[in-house]
Amino acid sequence: MEIKTATFLISQVDYRKCPTPVYPEYAFIGRSNVGKSSLINMLTGNSKLAKISSTPGKTQTINHFMINDNWYLVDLPGYGYARVSKKDRTRFMGMNYNYLEFRENLQCVFVLIDSRHEAQKNDLDFLAWLGKKGVPFVIVFTKTDKLGSGEANKNLTKYKKKLLTQWEQLPQIILSSAETGRGKDEILNLIEEVNAG
Ligand code: GTP
Ligand code: MG
Repeated sequence: MEIKTATFLISQVDYRKCPTPVYPEYAFIGRSNVGKSSLINMLTGNSKLAKISSTPGKTQTINHFMINDNWYLVDLPGYGYARVSKKDRTRFMGMNYNYLEFRENLQCVFVLIDSRHEAQKNDLDFLAWLGKKGVPFVIVFTKTDKLGSGEANKNLTKYKKKLLTQWEQLPQIILSSAETGRGKDEILNLIEEVNAG
């Protein structure tokens, strides 16, 4: 699938104020600075669509984008950023959890994990929560351009091993880079397939 049109719709803090759930929806989440907004811009071919920053904690609201006039893409606030106050962190996560649990047209969540890092507890806990709530998800390993291909694959193998200590089956894992466009076709094809039902 090709993204022909991508338009920003609304930015807000309450899932009940999201656009009418008449189209299938896909959300991007992960730790602060993992590259959610960059990935959205890479997928849509619009470097200015979602706001990017080298300072973690940039995205603080639920942001809806209308894609090709027939599906929604959502940029969510990151988690795990120590410099955001504890109160704000709890507020962001409450907002995310409500959205993820109750948004009826949500088809799949893309959980972004930095390909350079060891498995982190807050990511694993978050995946466990999605599992418990029965929210379908796919993992996206980001920033692979920062690693040699051997290293990216080595980290992936390690991550899978860690996941298998908690999960009976591995989720789908896509390797990506907002710099090189890696993973774009895989992510968009997956969305196309789900949209087609
Ligand atoms: P928050 O909104 O703060 O939670 O962050 P985010 O997950 O939306 O991350 P964002 O897209 O703003 O990117 C954070 C930083 O990582 C920026 O400096 C990006 O330029 C950089 N970055 C994101 N993706 C990639 C990538 O694939 N490769 C490289 N080399 N840098 C990336
Ligand atoms: Mg962001």
